[in-house]
Amino acid sequence: MADPTRAEPLERLRRRTSEKWATYGTEVLPMFVAEMDYPLAPPIKAALHEAVDLGDTGYVYPADHGVFDAFASFAQDLWGWHPSPAMMATTTDVSVVIVESLRRLIGPGDAVVVTSPVYPPFFDLIPEAGGTVLDVPLLDDGARYGLDLAGIDRAFAEGARGVLLCNPHNPLGHVHPRDELVALSDIVERHGGFVVSDEIHAPLTHTDASFTPYLTVSAAAAEHGIAAHSASKAFNLAGLKCALFVTAGERMARLVRHLPDEVRFRTGLFGLIATRVGFTEGREWLAGTLAAIEENRRLLGALLAEKLPQAGYREPHASYLAWLDLRALGWGDDPARVARREAKVALANGPRFGERGNGFARLNFACDPAVLTEAVERLAAAASV
Ligand SMILES: Cc1ncc(COP(=O)(O)O)c(C=O)c1O
Repeated sequence: MADPTRAEPLERLRRRTSEKWATYGTEVLPMFVAEMDYPLAPPIKAALHEAVDLGDTGYVYPADHGVFDAFASFAQDLWGWHPSPAMMATTTDVSVVIVESLRRLIGPGDAVVVTSPVYPPFFDLIPEAGGTVLDVPLLDDGARYGLDLAGIDRAFAEGARGVLLCNPHNPLGHVHPRDELVALSDIVERHGGFVVSDEIHAPLTHTDASFTPYLTVSAAAAEHGIAAHSASKAFNLAGLKCALFVTAGERMARLVRHLPDEVRFRTGLFGLIATRVGFTEGREWLAGTLAAIEENRRLLGALLAEKLPQAGYREPHASYLAWLDLRALGWGDDPARVARREAKVALANGPRFGERGNGFARLNFACDPAVLTEAVERLAAAASV
């Protein structure tokens, strides 16, 4: 059997119909949207095959299909955290967890803090819930990133109601250190605010970093925080539609208990099945896949140093996304456009991640090392023209 943690060949990937493979023609290497090129974890594949064989394609309500217990034991084993299965709910995806949480936490026009550069839909999800975005960019001293705690404190003093945190952080692959999260929770608590912590990339934290679930940092965080979790990034299940609201205190547990049934009802049945199996039986595959990702992280550094030394790159410590500083190439504010046109490499457009994204682009390296090598070679060739 082929190695399930080795990326699929391009000709096979091009038969996929997901966004990554449907958006561009065969002349383009797609390295933009956060989908991985590895085969599904074998236990997930088997469970989905069985569901198809059974015609198990009906409604999900009311059971959670074992997902809450599966997530609790996964969180226990990976992060030493045992969230209560009784304080969770499922819905379609992490974006819906964020919007449905915010709908219940803010009033019309309330400001919610984001820390750019950050996952672009955050700029849309807050308005979708009726709020306004207040950007307090991450601090960056050129070597490490950090939350601008003083800036967040000021934002609250000026009326912000809460923080939409990306933990670990997309696009930087930055894993927020515990002490900063503790300090954040003190500030939020002092202002009577909330934190919605998007932790979708947490299972992909690299072996040289340590992920801290926001709800564990203090009693206050447990009370004023709500976490969005999912197996969809770690196991490449985005199309199956399943994510979790995770809470640890009475205030947010009440919010989750009072969600309309319809919010849970929209969860995908295949998503529930795949999520439970991923969290329980997919650990070995995940470890192998993470090793492949970490290998590519190193390879990307070596390739850039050799072929495209003008590009700025700091190794991420979570997930498979590289935030490339391409300002020295002279490709303008949105270098991904030039990369697509001139190098036939599709990167995610930096400016969509906030103003700090001008001159940057994000590259997805969850692919075969040969594809990654070709992508950097194409970018280098275009840069040398
Ligand atoms: C930080 C972050 N949140 C949410 C999502 C989207 O998750 P979902 O498909 O579950 O809405 C992504 C996808 O890449 C992401 O990077």
